[in-house]
Amino acid sequence: MKTWRRTPKWRQNNPTDSDMSTTITCKMPHPGQLEVLKSPARFKVLACGRRWGKSQLGLISILKAAHLEHKRCWWVVPKYRTADEEIWGELVSVVKHLRGVAISKSKRRIELPKGGVIAIRSAHNPDNLRGAGLDFVVLDEAARMPAHTWHDVIRPMLADTRGGALFLSTPNGRNWFWERHRAGLDPLQEEWATFDFTTAQSCLVDPAELESIRQNTAQHIWQTEYEAVFSDDRGQVFRGLTDAAAPAPYDGPQPGHSYVAGVDWGRSRDYTAIAVLDASNNKMVALERFNQVGWELQRDRLSSIARKWRPQVIWAEANSIGEPNIDALVRQGLPMRRFYTSAKSKAPLIESLALAIEQNDITLLDDPVLLGELADYKFDRLANGGYRYGAPSGSHDDTVIAAALAWHGAQHSSRMRIDFA
Ligand SMILES: Nc1ncnc2c1ncn2[C@@H]1O[C@H](COP(=O)(O)OP(=O)(O)OP(=O)(O)O)[C@@H](O)[C@H]1O
Ligand SMILES: [Mg+2]
Repeated sequence: MKTWRRTPKWRQNNPTDSDMSTTITCKMPHPGQLEVLKSPARFKVLACGRRWGKSQLGLISILKAAHLEHKRCWWVVPKYRTADEEIWGELVSVVKHLRGVAISKSKRRIELPKGGVIAIRSAHNPDNLRGAGLDFVVLDEAARMPAHTWHDVIRPMLADTRGGALFLSTPNGRNWFWERHRAGLDPLQEEWATFDFTTAQSCLVDPAELESIRQNTAQHIWQTEYEAVFSDDRGQVFRGLTDAAAPAPYDGPQPGHSYVAGVDWGRSRDYTAIAVLDASNNKMVALERFNQVGWELQRDRLSSIARKWRPQVIWAEANSIGEPNIDALVRQGLPMRRFYTSAKSKAPLIESLALAIEQNDITLLDDPVLLGELADYKFDRLANGGYRYGAPSGSHDDTVIAAALAWHGAQHSSRMRIDFA
């Protein structure tokens, strides 16, 4: 693996003792970073994968602008977080030895000896983004900032100074950052330049490590986070469905096989769905949907499926109506497990099933309702970088959740077997 840890040329000329208080040292830019640094464009838009070295490039650019060109600069972040502490810490460690430097931690502001200024600002609080005279701005994780941060606040501030901007981000759907990215691809917009790099192209992450991440990451996340692909805000979650589906392998429990089930409770308009999975080979063996009125009838239906397949565990959503139903089934002796659905618990549940389908780790039943609901299922990218999953309005997702809970059960029970082995 290549690394570039040498000092950049513009700082390599054997500093003497007197130079030491005027010279700063940064990491040597890697070839992709160098390409961006050399571009004369006024506005540079970088769509890069995670860990490509975006922030490091921003750091070199802002230090060059503030220290060498004496510009007034901002480093804008979506919100103050620990990551911004890191940027602040790195900026301070690079400049603190300079003679005449003034560092204010409370204001997140560094005044360099010859008039250059670097201030860290958060796009979260618009009042934080007022101020006079701005020559250069780095928007780190730009795609996670609201559009008005750029259009209404920062862009006008660069007008009188004819200042420049560096937009750094992994994509976040087709939002304003995507529009700016397209501006950089338009030969008529000469002030703009766009750069695209995947994580692999920086050589900062060991290829074996990257491959291990790829194998354990659902495709829709991999493409955004590591390949820097812009996709629709509401994209398809489950891919490779046709290859993953097959007819039921048999219609009753097989000796020596163990089974797990997942249950999604029907609410007013929905169906209750139960998926049964053979945990010995990860093949789905049964899928039932019903919307009879009355919980007692629904529980009876579940009991009869459980009597047939004798699952080791039955994972069921425990929120609201789930809890009393589960309690009643536990009293009947069913091996119920509770799944509490929240934004935090749902994302890994769905992503795990998506990955299993893509990698052919699970065989689904070629049931048209299941395959239809899976194909319809969508993700939304959230401003905080996470994902929200669900069926489009008017569509159902009962079989998706039942299948995801059954897969969760299979994962969980195989882990239990290893633990007790
Ligand atoms: N040119 C370089 N030479 C050596 N190390 C580098 C270089 N550029 C970046 N790094 C190191 O690689 C790691 C990732 O860099 P950086 O944080 O800049 O990436 P990023 O794309 O901003 O990551 P993230 O997606 O997590 O925000 C950091 O530890 C950084 O110090
Ligand atoms: Mg970064």
